[in-house]
Amino acid sequence: MSMERFRDRTAFITGASRGIGKAIAKAFATEGANVFLIDINESALTATLNEFREQGLKAEGALADVSDRKQVNAAVQQALEAFGNIDILVNNAGVIRDNLLFKMTEDDWDTVMNVHLKGSFNCSAEIQKIMVENRYGRIINLSSTSALGNRGQANYSTAKAGLQGFTKTLAIELGKFGVTVNAVAPGFIETDMTKATAERMGIPFEQFLQYGASQTPVGRVGQPEDIANAVLFFAMEESSYVNGQVLYVAGGPKD
Ligand SMILES: NC(=O)c1ccc[n+]([C@@H]2O[C@H](COP(=O)([O-])OP(=O)(O)OC[C@H]3O[C@@H](n4cnc5c(N)ncnc54)[C@H](O)[C@@H]3O)[C@@H](O)[C@H]2O)c1
Repeated sequence: MSMERFRDRTAFITGASRGIGKAIAKAFATEGANVFLIDINESALTATLNEFREQGLKAEGALADVSDRKQVNAAVQQALEAFGNIDILVNNAGVIRDNLLFKMTEDDWDTVMNVHLKGSFNCSAEIQKIMVENRYGRIINLSSTSALGNRGQANYSTAKAGLQGFTKTLAIELGKFGVTVNAVAPGFIETDMTKATAERMGIPFEQFLQYGASQTPVGRVGQPEDIANAVLFFAMEESSYVNGQVLYVAGGPKD
């Protein structure tokens, strides 16, 4: 049974074909929202859209790379055609290109900056126009505990710290238009992203998960639904006085 807290709202979620983005999209849709999913992974996007529709959820989507402004613009137009409006933007799309600084290539750096920072800029810049006109909106960015520093992630931690500054600045600029901007900073979440990290480190995923749980005060690793829950809090109409905040969802004070 759902309370339909987001009935008549439309949420635009990036990188939503799997992992945390998929869980966020599912949580909004289960609460009655229209959800528009964008991703660069065509087969996963199609599978997720089909899965949602089979569950009776109102889901549409488009293939789009967040780092490409033209593709973002086209996806936003498609979302408007499908649902007539956008109330909520979740900048979730992300990639990792981990390496120690001395082995990190310029391409590793640029790719991570383009997806997280330019991608969030592109989507926010396009969609704020709609929100400002409506005098209503919710933007939620995905940061990370890595923003506080993490070995092998000079690029990713810089981008995730950058997103915190981006969040606070947009909160200041857009607040007077009824648009709040906040960030969720997850700790260790069990997804394909952390699976790839375990592979790169040559550690079996099960062992990596057990180690993550042992380092976390609540004694477990996080699930995508743990992050979706925090995103929905920021997106609620009643959260209108919560603006420019970074909420660590990490089973403890940080990681
Ligand atoms: N998993 C964790 O432990 C963790 C921790 C902290 C923060 N995060 C952040 O949460 C977000 C989601 O992570 P996840 O674990 O679900 O990762 P994931 O790799 O499972 O999913 C990321 C999704 O983003 C899509 N994507 C990648 N580049 C894109 C682009 N240029 N345009 C559009 N879509 C693109 C991918 O295809 C994929 O579907 C990311 O921003 C990540 O940095 C994850």
